Amino acid sequence: MAYISNDVINEIRNKTDIVDVVSKYVNLTKKGKNYIGVCPFHDDHSPSMSVSPEKQIFTCFSCGATGNVFTFVADFEKISFVEAVRLLGEKVGVSTQGNSFAVEKKDDYFEIYELANKFYQNSLFTSLGKNAIEYLEGRNIDKETIKKFGIGLSIQKVSLTDYLVNKKYSVDKLNEVGLTNDNGNDIFINRIMFPIYDLSGNPVAFSGRIYNTKDTSKYVNTKETDKFKKGKILYNYHIAKEHLKKNDTIIIMEGQMDVIRASTIGINNCIATMGTALTKDHRNILKNMANNIILCFDGDAAGEKATISAIELLEDTGINIKVVRLPNGMDPDEYIIKEGKESFLYQIESASNLIDYKMELLKKNKDFGNIKDISSYINSVISELVNEKDDIVIELNLKKIATSFNVNYDTLLDKYNDLKKKNKTVTKEVKPRKVYDKYGQAENNLIYYMLKDSKVINMVEKRVGYFPTKNIRQLSNEIIYYFHKYGIISVADFISYISDKEELLRTLKDILAMNIKEEFQIEEIEDYIFVINEYHKEVKINDLNKKLREEKDPLKQAKLSEEIMKIRGVKK
Ligand code: GTP
Ligand code: MN
Repeated sequence: MAYISNDVINEIRNKTDIVDVVSKYVNLTKKGKNYIGVCPFHDDHSPSMSVSPEKQIFTCFSCGATGNVFTFVADFEKISFVEAVRLLGEKVGVSTQGNSFAVEKKDDYFEIYELANKFYQNSLFTSLGKNAIEYLEGRNIDKETIKKFGIGLSIQKVSLTDYLVNKKYSVDKLNEVGLTNDNGNDIFINRIMFPIYDLSGNPVAFSGRIYNTKDTSKYVNTKETDKFKKGKILYNYHIAKEHLKKNDTIIIMEGQMDVIRASTIGINNCIATMGTALTKDHRNILKNMANNIILCFDGDAAGEKATISAIELLEDTGINIKVVRLPNGMDPDEYIIKEGKESFLYQIESASNLIDYKMELLKKNKDFGNIKDISSYINSVISELVNEKDDIVIELNLKKIATSFNVNYDTLLDKYNDLKKKNKTVTKEVKPRKVYDKYGQAENNLIYYMLKDSKVINMVEKRVGYFPTKNIRQLSNEIIYYFHKYGIISVADFISYISDKEELLRTLKDILAMNIKEEFQIEEIEDYIFVINEYHKEVKINDLNKKLREEKDPLKQAKLSEEIMKIRGVKK
């Protein structure tokens, strides 16, 4: 593994604010001196994660996830600790390069994409870009929008590969990042280029659209790379995320052109799936992004299919889902061009509730002149209502079917109640917390307060002979070592320090997730130390007692008793 010195890691951490970083991924609300949000590391429905600006750590008191800014990014992005340090280091301009003595080379990915992005954008405004500009103007995309979305152009005559090779990047590397093919030529030729950004706003891929040529594929996207995973990226996420601070609703569309069009009429909280199905990773991202989602896929049959699978994926996240189905197979782009801003805004404002949309859907291909169809329809509606939480919605819907089909309301209600009983979901198991005896508690508390106040470190160092639990013993040794080395200690930096010692990190995380009270009195520390030191006495006494029981010789028995009393501190 690459090595980055602790000083550098701490410097990056010092320049980074955990609240800023976490809020890029999760909606945070201030509560007291901390921030709270929905925990992205378990299936959380109410905010159980707390982020402390003071301690620069996050802790979920429900699932026990905890750590500093690096472990948060590493766990969220599913990258290594070192990669997370690099990523955040790049953001605050602290190089992690000179510190690497291992073989790992610095990753030029972001640099290459920054350059490529600028290159394509410049090309659009050269004389060779005239047709492309005309195409964009023909689609009502003005200069401002071009700038906003970083739209560019790839041209046959001017090679991006040549340009980047001149800038010292190897063809192999360009091939690896998806810009150059195996023959050493540009992948994108004569296409309008839409940069695709990762969740933090770095360009990591392109989507290129044909505009003046005929090609079998309308769009070509960068192949998957280590930084561009379709299933983990959403087009326009980084911009939409900013706008969500004002508006807690995200609108999901299919294509980037839809998102771009919406922005031209002042709707900026849109993202696009870029034609791929939503994944579990998307679901996690969305769950942490907003409390409300409007699905606004293309108005065609494919869009309906995409809507249904998105609902299936997102339904149990606790996100409030609404659906817009545009008429005549139109996509949002076409609809806005044809029907105008006001009409589209109306579509968004009058989006259907999930249950209403489902009830509409269930009506499809049903013949309501046919009793069997009616009964099957009513049964499916009731099955859907079983999952509905809002009692009013349930009652209103049951009443609606009762009237529409002339069925007795009580019959429907009985049916609903029966089904509800059957479906009663087993309440989710909460991971049982480990139970600690008084020694374990004393150990945990001591470690916790050592990381809070160096006075405690000194006390432990001088007075605790030996912690009974191995991991605690090692943690304590590491804390003492760290403190002597750096003269200062914070829990956030110490987490970095032991990040590659898996077992110790796990033990520390367990302790941090225990919700130990912040303030302490020195007398409490004295007590904990006393308890720990008592432990060893107890062990010795137990040992001697055992011997005593087995001993036959009265003289030796007397000696053992005496020894026990001595340890107990009882004078003869
Ligand atoms: P425009 O025709 O420019 O308005 O695009 P659109 O958004 O209407 O495209 P469409 O609805 O056909 O496709 C939705 C999204 O799927 C696009 O925005 C692309 O990201 C993606 N997509 C469409 N066609 C292709 C293709 O041929 N190849 C790939 N890889 N992706 C495509
Ligand atoms: Mn379109």
